[in-house]
Amino acid sequence: MTGGNEDLVNDDVTPIGDPAITLRITDADRRRLLEQDVRRGLTDAHKSLPAKWLYDARGGELFGQITQLPEYYPTRTEAALLAAIGPQLAAAAPAHAIVELGAGDSPKTRQLVDACAAGGTLERFVSFDVDEESLRRSTRELAARHPGVRVEGMLADMTSDLDLLPGGEGVLVALLGSTIGNFLHDQRVGFYRDVAERLQPGSWLLVGYDLVKDPAVLEAAYDDSAGVTAAFTRNVLVMLNRELDGNFDVDGFAHDARWLADEQLVRVGLRARGKQRARLDALDLDVSFADGELLHLEVCCKFLRNGVEGELAESGFAIDGWWTDPSELFALCLARRV
Ligand code: SAH
Ligand code: TRP
Repeated sequence: MTGGNEDLVNDDVTPIGDPAITLRITDADRRRLLEQDVRRGLTDAHKSLPAKWLYDARGGELFGQITQLPEYYPTRTEAALLAAIGPQLAAAAPAHAIVELGAGDSPKTRQLVDACAAGGTLERFVSFDVDEESLRRSTRELAARHPGVRVEGMLADMTSDLDLLPGGEGVLVALLGSTIGNFLHDQRVGFYRDVAERLQPGSWLLVGYDLVKDPAVLEAAYDDSAGVTAAFTRNVLVMLNRELDGNFDVDGFAHDARWLADEQLVRVGLRARGKQRARLDALDLDVSFADGELLHLEVCCKFLRNGVEGELAESGFAIDGWWTDPSELFALCLARRV
C-alpha cells in the first residue's frame, strides 16, 4: 500500500452501529439445505458434498491459515498483483459500487477498496459471502476504515442469490482467490451469464484466476506439509458430527488432492482409510464407505488466458485488462460488460 492511500484512512472513526447485513440465508434455510445436501451427497453412488459446507467458523479460520502457507502461493501472489495494479485498476474501472463475492475476511478486500476509494468514485461496497462470521468481521473493519463508503454485507449464496446484485452501470463485481475455479465450465458460464444479466455496459467483472502450471506445485498447494489443508477438509466431518449428530471417525479419512491433467483441475476430497461406517442421527441416515472410497469436496480448475477469454466472450464480457505476476502463477482479469 502506498502512503497516499494511507492518507484516506481514518482509524479513529468508530462506526455508529454495525454495517447493514442482508440475510438471504436464514438459520432455518441453512439447516434445510444442509440436510438436503448431505442426504443427497452421501447416498449418491459417487459421494460428494458441496464445497460451501467447508466454510463454517472453524473452516473459515483454517482457510485463513491456508492462505499463509508456504505452499499456497495464490493468496500472496494475487495480493502482490493487486498492490501493483491498484491505480490502473481504479482508472480502468471507475466504479461507484463494488460487490465482492466470496470475499471472506481477506486483506485483499481492503486492498481493492483502498485502490478504488483512492480513485474517488466509490460510494458503496458490498461483501457477499455464506460465512456470517467473516462477513461481519470484515464489513465492520472496512466501515471503520472508509467512513465515506457505504459498507454492507450480504449473507447469500453466489450460486443462487445473484438477483441481490445491484444492477446497472458503474458496478464492479469481484471474485478473487480463484474461487471461480471451484466451478466447472458449465457452471462458470452460467455464473458469468447471471452476472452479465444483472449488469449493464459500463460495469465490470474482476476475477482472479490460478493458472495452469507444474502439477507438483499445484498438488502441494492443496496438500501442504503442515497438514492445514487436511485439517480444513476433515473439518467438514467435524461439522457433520456436530450439526447432524453424527459419529464419523474423522481420523478414518485421509485428505486427498490430485491433479487431473485431462480436466486441468485439482480434485480435493477425503478418502476412507479402510472400511468406514457412520450414522447421522439427525437424518436417521447410515452411510458406509468402502476402503479407499472418495468423498468428493471440491474442484479447483486451473486456467489459461485463451480459455478464459472464450468463456467470457460467450457470456457477454470482453477483457479490458489481464495482469500476471512475473512467474505467471496467477492472473487478475478485468472484463467489461458489453
Ligand atoms: N476471497 C477470499 C476468500 C476465498 S475462500 C480470498 O481470496 O482469500 C472462498 C470464500 O467464498 C469463503 O469466504 C467462503 O465462505 C465463500 N463461499 C464459498 N461458497 C460460496 C457460495 N456459494 N456463495 C457465497 N460465498 C461462498
Ligand atoms: N478458492 C480456493 C482455491 O481453489 C479454495 C481452496 C484453497 C480449497 N485450498 C483448498 C478448497 C483446499 C478445498 C480444499 O484455491
